[in-house]
Amino acid sequence: MKLLEDKIISDGQVVSSEILKVASFLNHQIDIELLDKMGEEFARLFKDKKVTKILTIEASGIAIACATARFFHVPVVFAKKNRSRNINDDVYCSDIFSFTHEETYHAIVTKKFLTKDDHVLIIDDFLANGAAIKGLIDIISQSGAEFVGAGIAIEKGFQAGGKELREKGYKIESLAIIESMSKDGITFRH
Ligand code: G4P
Repeated sequence: MKLLEDKIISDGQVVSSEILKVASFLNHQIDIELLDKMGEEFARLFKDKKVTKILTIEASGIAIACATARFFHVPVVFAKKNRSRNINDDVYCSDIFSFTHEETYHAIVTKKFLTKDDHVLIIDDFLANGAAIKGLIDIISQSGAEFVGAGIAIEKGFQAGGKELREKGYKIESLAIIESMSKDGITFRH
């Protein structure tokens, strides 16, 4: 999506060859008009799918998921991150290891918000190693719902998550895929 690529070039900061900072429009301050266009693009990319719910994970995924849900007219459910494992019969739980933060957390979704009748689209801000998306897919499978695909704002194509998930046959649509980045610039995959 050219609009997002242009925004990454103009406002993103390459912190290292692995980390892109997008705090000024996605992760801290939020550009609602850009998110609205991103939601519209996800709606176009997944228009052939039946979607009854959008699933994301706190915190930064929520705004993009909400922007997308406006076009599908379905609720957003966001997984909550817990440090302690909440052993409770009312929740689905999946353990997620964050490579960026080098820690494991527990993603929790209350059972009544995902049922076997749901068709679930995952939306998230970044796809790196794919740990968060795999954890959310695990939660969807625990619920018996159907996973219809995942829409990602920014995929770091040089990390393994996107390739692994697509090889499993999942529909993964990223609005901007970074092939490589350095202080000298960012190259996108098309
Ligand atoms: P993975 O899920 O694909 O395996 O990614 P990883 O564990 O490495 O990412 C953990 C967190 O770091 C996620 O946010 C993810 O969005 C974020 N992240 C990964 N790579 C980048 C990057 O290059 N730039 C930025 N800005 N964020 C990145 P989180 O910790 O869950 O934070 P938040 O959703 O509360 O903001």
